[in-house]
Amino acid sequence: MPSIEKTFIMIKPDAVRDRKSGLIIDRIERCGLTIERMEKCELDDETVKVHYAHLADKPFFGDLVAFMTSGPVVKMVVSGLGAVSKMRTLMGATNPQDAAPGTIRGDFAIDVNSNVIHGSDSLENAAIEIERFFG
Ligand code: RTP
Ligand code: MG
Repeated sequence: MPSIEKTFIMIKPDAVRDRKSGLIIDRIERCGLTIERMEKCELDDETVKVHYAHLADKPFFGDLVAFMTSGPVVKMVVSGLGAVSKMRTLMGATNPQDAAPGTIRGDFAIDVNSNVIHGSDSLENAAIEIERFFG
């Protein structure tokens, strides 16, 4: 049985720049999930490097940090039944080429380097990320 969870979600700079935030928030709410907290902000290099530390040895890491600091993001705490996995399903695959139509990445993203939305990948990481971004 899924339980009420909180997950950390971030609308990435490409989607904020393209004024897609409202459409993405609409999809989250239509799924029965609740926006608990939400703030537009800019990320510094250090925060992004810590957030994506598991990818530090990848060749695309520099581009990822540059992208995530290229403009404002909208960070959120989203709650609901099974919110962590529900959001990952709603987001779609990391690479938009593999993301199913009807998912956020499948409908709004084209490129793996700018894929519109971040969502925590586990309940444990959700708690860590909520603390990191909202304190
Ligand atoms: P996110 O953390 O942003 O929600 O993405 P994710 O869990 O679906 O994927 P993750 O493995 O955590 O990767 C984080 C971000 O790194 C970029 N990436 N590029 N070029 C590539 O092969 C590649 N692989 C990952 C993506 O922008 C991904 O969202
Ligand atoms: Mg991830």
